[in-house]
Amino acid sequence: MSTITSLSNHQVRLASRPVGPATRANWSFTTEPVAEPGPGGVLVKTLYLSLDPAMRGWMNEGKSYIPPVEIGAVMRAGGIGRVISSNNPAFAVGDHVNAGLDVQEYCLIPEAQIKRSGMFKIDLRVGSATQWLNVLGMPGMTGYFGLMDVGQPKAGETVVVSGAAGAVGQTVGQIAKLKGCRVVGIAGGQAKCDWVVKELGFDACIDYKAGDVKAGLKEHCPKGVDIYFDNVGGEILDTVLTRITRGARIIICGAISQYNNTTPVKGPANYLSLLVNRARMEGIVVFDYADRYPQAIAEMAGYLKAGSMKSKEDVVFGLETFPETLLKLFNGENFGKLVLQVAKE
Ligand SMILES: NC(=O)c1ccc[n+]([C@@H]2O[C@H](COP(=O)([O-])OP(=O)(O)OC[C@H]3O[C@@H](n4cnc5c(N)ncnc54)[C@H](OP(=O)(O)O)[C@@H]3O)[C@@H](O)[C@H]2O)c1
Repeated sequence: MSTITSLSNHQVRLASRPVGPATRANWSFTTEPVAEPGPGGVLVKTLYLSLDPAMRGWMNEGKSYIPPVEIGAVMRAGGIGRVISSNNPAFAVGDHVNAGLDVQEYCLIPEAQIKRSGMFKIDLRVGSATQWLNVLGMPGMTGYFGLMDVGQPKAGETVVVSGAAGAVGQTVGQIAKLKGCRVVGIAGGQAKCDWVVKELGFDACIDYKAGDVKAGLKEHCPKGVDIYFDNVGGEILDTVLTRITRGARIIICGAISQYNNTTPVKGPANYLSLLVNRARMEGIVVFDYADRYPQAIAEMAGYLKAGSMKSKEDVVFGLETFPETLLKLFNGENFGKLVLQVAKE
C-alpha cells in the first residue's frame, strides 16, 4: 500500500456527456490526496496539458479508435510533467516527461501503465516543454506521418491544408514547403492567414470566414490540388474535392466542423470527384506510428535547430479554466497549439 504524501491533487472529471458543445456543467472538480508510487511506478507533477479537438470525441459514448472517457473519470489528456518521486530506474526525480497525465495536478503512474501511457523523457535543450506538445509532440507527429506516409508529397505538387494556423496545420504546411511543394492554407481570419504566409512561408492562405473558398482555390491553386490535408471536414472538404487533380491524395485527419454536431456528421457530397480523378481519400490515426516517432522527432528537431521550422503555442494558465479553455478550439480562438499550463515548474 502506497504512503500518502502531504500533497493534494485537484482534478477535472467528466460529469456528464455533452449534447453539442461541452459546458462547465459537463465537468466536476475534485480534490484527492496524492499517494507515493508503488514498486516500479512514478509520481509526476503536471506542468502543461495538451488540449485537443479529439477530447470532444472522447466525451461521447460509443466506439472510436480509443474508448470513451467514463463518467466520473478524470478527463484524459496528454501532457508534460516533472517526475517528483520515482521507483523506476528509467526515470529519475527531476526528469521532464511526456505522458498521459490527464486533467489533474499530479499523476501517479504505476509500472504497468508507464508503457501503456507512452511515457518518455523529453530533452528541453531540443525544444521547449510546449514545443514537445506541438511540433515535437502528437500534433507534429500527426502532421508528419499524415503528410509523408499518406500524402506522399512530391516537389512541385500543390498541397492545401485546412486548420492551417492550428497545431497540426502549421506543421503540415511547413513540412510541405520543406519538401518543395506549393502550399496553400485555409484558416479563419486575416491574422491567422497573414501569420502562415508571412511567418511560416506558405504561398497563400484563404480566409474561409471572409470569402469564397472555391474562388480562393481557383486563384491560388491554378493547377489544382494534388494533396489536401483535411483537419476540418464539412463544407470545406466538399469544396476542395471540386478542385483536385488526377491521382490526388486526401488525408482525413479530422473534421472539427462536425464534432459538436447534434445531427449526423455531414459527409462529402462531391465524393465522386475521387472516381473521376482516380484519387484516394485515407484516414490517419497518429498512434499507429508510435514506434516511428523518434525518427520524425529527430527530423523536426533538426528543422527547429536550423531555424527552418517555427512553432506557435497558445498557452492558458490554470486548471480551473479547463472547461472554457477547451472551447477555444471549437470557436477558433486558439492561435497555435492550445496548451493548458497547470503549474509553473
Ligand atoms: N487523426 C489523428 O490522429 C489526429 C491527431 C491530432 C489531431 N487531429 C485532428 O486534427 C485537426 C486539427 O487539430 P489541432 O490539434 O491541430 O487543432 P487546431 O487546429 O490547433 O485547433 C482547432 C482549429 O480548428 C478550426 N475550426 C474550428 N471549428 C471550425 C469549423 N467549424 N470550420 C473550420 N475550422 C474550424 C479553428 O481554426 P480557424 O480559426 O482557422 O477556424 C481552430 O483554431 C482536428 O480535426 C483534430 O481532431 C487528428
